Amino acid sequence: MVAMQAVPQAAAPLLAVNGIEVIYNHVILVLKGVSLTVPEGGVVAVLGANGAGKTTTLKAISRLLKAERGEVTKGSVEYRGERIEAASPSDLVRRGLIQVMEGRHCFGHLTIEENLLTGAYTRRDGQGQVAADLDKVYAYFPRLKERRRAQAGYTSGGEQQMCAIGRALMSNPRMILLDEPSMGLAPQLVEEIFEIVHRLNREAGVSFLVAEQNTNMALRYASFGYILENGRIVMDGPADSLRENSDVKEFYLGLGEGGRQSFRDVKHYRRRKRWLA
Ligand SMILES: Nc1ncnc2c1ncn2[C@@H]1O[C@H](COP(=O)(O)OP(=O)(O)OP(=O)(O)O)[C@@H](O)[C@H]1O
Ligand SMILES: [Mg+2]
Repeated sequence: MVAMQAVPQAAAPLLAVNGIEVIYNHVILVLKGVSLTVPEGGVVAVLGANGAGKTTTLKAISRLLKAERGEVTKGSVEYRGERIEAASPSDLVRRGLIQVMEGRHCFGHLTIEENLLTGAYTRRDGQGQVAADLDKVYAYFPRLKERRRAQAGYTSGGEQQMCAIGRALMSNPRMILLDEPSMGLAPQLVEEIFEIVHRLNREAGVSFLVAEQNTNMALRYASFGYILENGRIVMDGPADSLRENSDVKEFYLGLGEGGRQSFRDVKHYRRRKRWLA
């Protein structure tokens, strides 16, 4: 799983999403031209409030939209320089691109270890390699090793999130689309999980696209961020500059006055204020 992969030609990003539009049920337009890139070895955040379109963006990339009656109707998605709009989700998993879904979908009636082993289903390199990868997952997640025989449904939310990420690792991924790892978890656990993401990125060379409502935490671990609102990217930039940006602070960190509906309102409000001043 964790062998460093050779970096391809310098400039080509690992993942490039180019102006995608997504429609659910043939009529509900949700993404209205979203573009983003993830460099090889990068950790990039997609931020935004409830219903902004983060999950839809990730599922458009991993090809899991179909199960939701969603469709990419414009734009393109390139992974390692190849168009992937026609690939199947399992084909993408074999090519190293996997999504960890929001809400940590573990099989509740299976043990932690059985859950992890289900993640190796696309592997064709034999039991020995699978066993070695299981050991690596346990090295990153010692808690999972302790709980390997526990039925997943009876483990804590944090352990289930770790199990969901660990299961993705069993497919030997080059890139993980990680949907709201912080959801419903105490801050300390969220930090523990982001630390492991950081180590997987540094030590195992796994690239990440992380969708988060927890802007503050995500921007501490990502190098670049995109802010999504109502199906559009309204702002992007290096994580440091987003963290310091007063509009982002005001809207996402709740440092401004209340009553505004959206990030854009904040921007307009601030502009008006400056103009009046
Ligand atoms: N299967 C679906 N059919 C129709 N509309 C959908 C479907 N899934 C999502 N939507 C709508 O698309 C919009 C974006 O939803 P999405 O789940 O991508 O947002 P999100 O940013 O992930 O939100 P959250 O932070 O709550 O997870 C929402 O308005 C939602 O109601
Ligand atoms: Mg979501």
